[in-house]
Amino acid sequence: MTTTLIIGGGSGMGRVLAAALLTRGESVVIAGRDAARLEHAAASLPDGDVRTRTVDLADETRVRELYDFTGPVDHVVTTAVDVSGAYLPVAGLDPRLARDAFDIKVLGPLLLAKYAPGLVKESLTITAGFNAHRPAPGGAVIATANGAIEALVRALAVEIAPIRVNAVSPGWVDTDLWDRLAGDDRAARLSGMAARLPVGRVGRGEDLAEAFIAVSRNGFTTGSVVHVDGGQRLV
Ligand SMILES: NC(=O)c1ccc[n+]([C@@H]2O[C@H](COP(=O)([O-])OP(=O)(O)OC[C@H]3O[C@@H](n4cnc5c(N)ncnc54)[C@H](OP(=O)(O)O)[C@@H]3O)[C@@H](O)[C@H]2O)c1
Repeated sequence: MTTTLIIGGGSGMGRVLAAALLTRGESVVIAGRDAARLEHAAASLPDGDVRTRTVDLADETRVRELYDFTGPVDHVVTTAVDVSGAYLPVAGLDPRLARDAFDIKVLGPLLLAKYAPGLVKESLTITAGFNAHRPAPGGAVIATANGAIEALVRALAVEIAPIRVNAVSPGWVDTDLWDRLAGDDRAARLSGMAARLPVGRVGRGEDLAEAFIAVSRNGFTTGSVVHVDGGQRLV
């Protein structure tokens, strides 16, 4: 049976991806730092073969232990991000918080790649973001991390071949992340964003789940960045 390891699978688009794969009758391992969040997510998923495992993607030992737990898997997808302190004007930059953001979005995928040969049979997919192309003031840290991911997938695609390595770059997507970024303004912020996009709506977790599945399963796609952003880079 096809098995996908999803780091960040306890919430947001990672959780929707897990649901889509279980519906197809596949196996998933969902991983993140918070055991309670993972258990809650697992209980909300369709019936099927789902395992949970805590990991801090920025910690090499924990990443190694994660693969020890899963054994060989077909696909790895990371959607992990922690936005606390990641959206600050450069004038107020906190180097520790900036490093944390880079650790999760860039170092973490490098660690996943380091231990992938022999354990990951087909693909590694990393989640980037539109702001590498359409930055806004206050978003320099995340924009830089997302841009680095685009370079990273090209480098890894040649270095850890035949494992295929790609990025999916979302635009605004209605996920749990916006509870933390917008709080009570969430609904107003998302509808304002929808009006600015060519497609007239923000993304849904399902839009991204479809992209993760397509990219990870297409045997002729590697070193690519697939933009799933409703045209956000264009406006
Ligand atoms: N939603 C959007 O509008 C949007 C736009 C552009 C790009 N993106 C990108 O899309 C991806 C997914 O976003 P989302 O909206 O689904 O976010 P989300 O709901 O906040 O999910 C992020 C997940 O990452 C996990 N995580 C955080 N730090 C971790 C760490 N150190 N180790 C392991 N897991 C960790 C979190 O779980 P724990 O807290 O339990 O660890 C959480 O489940 C991110 O890379 C984000 O930058 C999102």
